[in-house]
Amino acid sequence: MIVLAAGKGTRMRSRRPKVLHPLAGQSLIQRVLRTSRTLVPKTITVVVGHQSELVQAALAHHGDLKFARQELQLGTAHALQQTRSALETTQGSLVVMSGDVPRLSSATLTKLIDAHEATGAAGTVLTATLKRPYGYGRIVRSQGEMVGIVEETDATREQRNIREVNGGVYAFDIEPLFDALDQISETGPKHERYLPAIISSYRRRGLRVGTVTADDPNEIRGINSQTELAEVSSIVRQSKNEELMGAGVTIEDPSTTYIDDDVTVGPDTVIHPGVRLEGRTHVGERCELQSWVVVDSTIEDDCIVRNCCVVTEARLASGTVVGPFAHLRPGSILELGARVGNFVEMKQATLGRGSKANHLSYLGDATVGDRVNVGAGTITCNYDGGTKNRTTIADGAFVGSGTQLVAPVTVGQDGYVAAGSCITEDVPPGSLGVARARQENKPGWVEKKRRSE
Ligand code: UD1
Ligand code: CA
Repeated sequence: MIVLAAGKGTRMRSRRPKVLHPLAGQSLIQRVLRTSRTLVPKTITVVVGHQSELVQAALAHHGDLKFARQELQLGTAHALQQTRSALETTQGSLVVMSGDVPRLSSATLTKLIDAHEATGAAGTVLTATLKRPYGYGRIVRSQGEMVGIVEETDATREQRNIREVNGGVYAFDIEPLFDALDQISETGPKHERYLPAIISSYRRRGLRVGTVTADDPNEIRGINSQTELAEVSSIVRQSKNEELMGAGVTIEDPSTTYIDDDVTVGPDTVIHPGVRLEGRTHVGERCELQSWVVVDSTIEDDCIVRNCCVVTEARLASGTVVGPFAHLRPGSILELGARVGNFVEMKQATLGRGSKANHLSYLGDATVGDRVNVGAGTITCNYDGGTKNRTTIADGAFVGSGTQLVAPVTVGQDGYVAAGSCITEDVPPGSLGVARARQENKPGWVEKKRRSE
């Protein structure tokens, strides 16, 4: 298996290598590799060139990939030639994929290889019939047989009307391939050597070539520009939304709902407009995710996340309620039935079963037990300028409003903290901690002030 990914992607007008652009949470090349792996190929070689260090670094976690370098990007045939030393002694079929064709399904790829092997062709091209074939190489046929592929720029007006296009994915018999590649001549102002030119070259040498047509033409959509990236993203999103709706999820407005491929959502969950679910997020059954919620986390069953919350690397156990306007940062854990209200931020903090932090709080590096009430405006002062320190609030405790808990500090089981306290020492279990200046009232003060004015 070869993946061509050395091109510059000039038409993207971006500094980022084209194949690293994300599409619904995964880069183009990650998507291509994921599909390629479903075939369990013996080896996968990625041809890299333009900004190869970035592409290789992005793929470093795939331990088994091989890389072939194409120092100068002299076209797709030239790119494939760079794999010669890696493959020359190998026999059998070789699949060539384009790193910028991200939506190909494993079923279509399998269909391509099966047909290639069944017909015994030297080369088989994946094609599709598009309503708007602009930009793609056109499949030229004579008496039904493919006789060549002509690129848009080289096509006659008549050829431009051909709607069957080259998908940029091929199966080849390795044996005649590399010699044929050597014979492809340069074309165009950039002196590029085009892989599709191999078709007419094979025909001239009497080698058999064939085609397989993708049933869904969107599968072969290539990404060359930002506009195409947006178009294909919207197709990917739509199919994810349809998959979830088919499994019983209510999506009020699919056109504004952005759900990455690896996200799972249980039935009877209702997703309001403008929600974004990222990465490997799991949302259980019967949840409600209100508008403008962004989640990259695990949310169990029967949870409600109200409008405008950001929930990242957090875990919400069943029956929890969050928001509106809450920010749950990495390491936030809400246990069964816990509640977090508006303008509450959490980080590396656990809120125990049935506990509540309903208004305007910051809980950082904190362990809050079960049935605790965290009063409005409570702040854990977790950072002393050097280290982060933990706050522990044991089961059943009550923290009055406007409290500062200067960590490291513990409020014992069933302890109380008086509102407005700045707690710097542990509050023992069952005790009341008060840490504020005693109030003094000055009778007649206002009257005195007025008289002196
Ligand atoms: C290519 C095909 C076209 C087909 C289309 C399908 C050629 C000449 N044309 O056009 O017939 O319809 O794909 O999407 O092949 N690459 C390299 N090295 C290079 C040039 C490109 O590795 O020197 C890689 C790119 O990174 C990309 C792939 O090959 O992943 C395709 O290159 P691209 O320039 O996008 O070709 P298209 O113009 O789309
Ligand atoms: Ca392309």
